[in-house]
Amino acid sequence: MEHTKYVHGYSEREALRLNDQADTLEDIIHNDTVFKSGSLVLEAGCGVGAQTKIIAEKNPDSNFISIDISKESIHEAQQLIKRLSIRNVVFRQANLYKLPFQNETFDNVIVCFVLEHLHNPAVALNELKRVLKNDGIMIVIEGDHGSTFFYPDSREAHSAIDCQIQVQKEIGGNSNIGRELYPLFKSVGFSDIVVSPRTVYVDTSKPQLVEGFIKNTFTAMIEGVGEKAIRHGLIDRMTFEKGIKDLYRTTEPDGVFIYTFFKGFGTKK
Ligand SMILES: C[S@@+](CC[C@H](N)C(=O)[O-])C[C@H]1O[C@@H](n2cnc3c(N)ncnc32)[C@H](O)[C@@H]1O
Repeated sequence: MEHTKYVHGYSEREALRLNDQADTLEDIIHNDTVFKSGSLVLEAGCGVGAQTKIIAEKNPDSNFISIDISKESIHEAQQLIKRLSIRNVVFRQANLYKLPFQNETFDNVIVCFVLEHLHNPAVALNELKRVLKNDGIMIVIEGDHGSTFFYPDSREAHSAIDCQIQVQKEIGGNSNIGRELYPLFKSVGFSDIVVSPRTVYVDTSKPQLVEGFIKNTFTAMIEGVGEKAIRHGLIDRMTFEKGIKDLYRTTEPDGVFIYTFFKGFGTKK
């Protein structure tokens, strides 16, 4: 009896810890990426399949057509999905501004981290809406770099992040598009729009996110624009390097890092 109670108490605590921790991005952004059994889903801008593998495994009774403009990425995604023995995905090289599908082909369309790179996200969203069936649901997940804050705070780290935002703007993208999802959905005529913030809160009790998100995803991405930002006169080298050092500083035992993704759902009526 004591033993049962212990086991029960233990597993309840463990379940709570797991719930609270949401220690992978998957828990945070894909917890509700769930499609009706038998759905045909278009994933637009699938890249190398990082989201494909998650959403296809999570929805084994749906079929996916995943497209990307890059032939190389499609090839890599194909290899990944084959390696994982996932069988409900077909890949195709295509431009999401001019989709090779008839009107009202798909039950659902999903795009993840794609609109932020596009010159004209509203035009793209309209084309994606064209291939969605009536009553079909569109899902968009995007980041918003302006949502970043951390401890210890650092002016230089914010300046380094701002360089990424500026460089992205120069090439026609929008790193702060997450906050615009609601007006964007509205501008192309979706109904029943629901946008929710998906905040990633990281302290060192979540080592997976410290490594996987703060270091290898976010800071690595900011670091990547350094040379260009310095060349374009957006920042001086010393400030940028201090900013990057301060971002890594947030991964030390007393550090905290917070970032918000946004996920939007809209129905075609
Ligand atoms: C940041 S990646 C995101 C990839 C993937 N969704 C993920 O979350 O890992 C953006 C992707 O959009 C693709 N892309 C950009 N413009 C596109 C277009 N016009 N048509 C189709 N794909 C496009 C890029 O090739 C790239 O693979």
